[in-house]
Amino acid sequence: FVRHVGLLVDLEVLLQDRLAPALEAVAGHPVDPAVRVSPHADFQSGAPLALARELGRPPREIAAEVAAKADLAGLAEIAVSGPGFLNLTVSGSALDEALRATAADGRLGVPRTTVPRRVVIDYSGPNVAKEMHVGHLRSTIIGDALARMLEWLGDDVVRVNHLGDWGTPFGMLVEHLIDRGGDADHSISDLTAFYQAARVKFDNDDDFRRRARLRVVALQSGDPVSRELWRELVSRSERYFLDVYARLGVTLGPDDFAGESRYQDDLDGIVAELGEKGLLTESDGALCVFPAGFTGRDGVALPLIVRKADGGYGYAATDLAAIRHRVRALGGQRLLYVVGAPQRTHFEMVFAVARAAGWLPDVVTAEHIGFGSILGADGRMLRTRAGDTVKLAGLLDEAAGRASAPAIGIGAIKYADLSGDRRGDYVFDLDRMLAITGNTGPYLQMAHARVRSIFRRAGRPAGTITVTEPAERDLALVLLGFEPAVRAAAGSAEPHRLAVHLHDVAAAFSAFYERCPVLRAPTEEVRRSRLGLADLTARTLHTGLFLLGIEAPEEI
Ligand code: ARG
Repeated sequence: FVRHVGLLVDLEVLLQDRLAPALEAVAGHPVDPAVRVSPHADFQSGAPLALARELGRPPREIAAEVAAKADLAGLAEIAVSGPGFLNLTVSGSALDEALRATAADGRLGVPRTTVPRRVVIDYSGPNVAKEMHVGHLRSTIIGDALARMLEWLGDDVVRVNHLGDWGTPFGMLVEHLIDRGGDADHSISDLTAFYQAARVKFDNDDDFRRRARLRVVALQSGDPVSRELWRELVSRSERYFLDVYARLGVTLGPDDFAGESRYQDDLDGIVAELGEKGLLTESDGALCVFPAGFTGRDGVALPLIVRKADGGYGYAATDLAAIRHRVRALGGQRLLYVVGAPQRTHFEMVFAVARAAGWLPDVVTAEHIGFGSILGADGRMLRTRAGDTVKLAGLLDEAAGRASAPAIGIGAIKYADLSGDRRGDYVFDLDRMLAITGNTGPYLQMAHARVRSIFRRAGRPAGTITVTEPAERDLALVLLGFEPAVRAAAGSAEPHRLAVHLHDVAAAFSAFYERCPVLRAPTEEVRRSRLGLADLTARTLHTGLFLLGIEAPEEI
């Protein structure tokens, strides 16, 4: 039944395919076989229960009828269990065949999609002349994992780094740069200190504030000197961000920067188009859109402010121009925005307005990939002891310094971020993140390195896999779950589904290694088969960690 490597190794799909005709014969119409991995058998189907309700017949009777009709020859044993479940136990030969096909495949049984989509992923998005803080850390790490997974599955991924490089603060920053002698490289050793000094002057010095306001006007009207200085600030920051990405092993590069400033020339057109379509409402001098279905706590309709009363454009206008650009110019078919949970309403409103304006056609999906906060040990937003926001670079230094190698420290931070449901908050606890036991990055890196070391000692290659012992069987079934795990993680933009799976792989390998000697296996054949399982384990961990953006060193 070799149709496709991807299908062959996906036992769940194979079982569904074989169960479907039997269910249809009993029901008289197609029924979802609902085959799932189960602790009670290898797989289980609860389909007879729903069908029994529909037909008004006893569930166990339905289950028995389906079991009798199902042709599972060569694939699995079927048995009725409990109130009317179907337990499915995969046959040894089917398991061996699926494992061998997976091991022989450079992509571990994960086919490239036959219908690639152009996916535009907006992530990282730090602000110029400000240090990246921990909030940007999550966007950067999660966004990069999604980019890696979707690209590996065959989608055509466009990375967009929506840099905060425009707006009123730049009047103050450019003016401060002039006061400091105009050379960004010499005047800025610390971006945050530079920003804060400008801020203090702006708040306390009337003359500076006046000059900063004039500078905004000069900048926006294209004054060459102001633009040149602004450009210097931006490129100085970009270099700093690229350093951080390199340290983090993040795939964002210099060509991915597409800051807010890029869309400034489009904003008049955005407003004009909204006006033509009758979507604009004036409110206290500001131009707003009130998309249907958005109300505040008091039940009053929420505005998306497109142009402020002073004529300036803000964050929302820029996002409308950006979404139009991503569909029209970039050909985006799936748009992802990896941005913290507080911006959820902003994006939902932007999507709604873009749909109403015709910039976001029905065939294009737009998803806000939100995430929770990083908390300190006190359960509040992570802050320094002095109460300041924590700088990203400092955290990375600390993690890299405390681990035996930077790859372990950085991997620990990234894994801790990716292994929980992204919607939740989590506590930044380096001790826990760096622990070599538990659901941590170092634990997975260690499991991988341990398998590699078995090979260094074995001095011979793996052979054909034949599963016999229960611990081998358990490991085999987990290994075959890689394809569905990657697909689920990419489909729902939930990297933790892959992370959790990799942890299961490492845990199943430990249990196997304890019970089934590899180098001292009873026969040469068994030894080679176990080496085959070990090799597949290492490759799965390596590939899976790569997809999450985490290094898997050969030795630790
Ligand atoms: N610069 C923004 C911030 O720091 C994030 C940008 C997110 N992307 C977007 N298209 N709005 O909050």
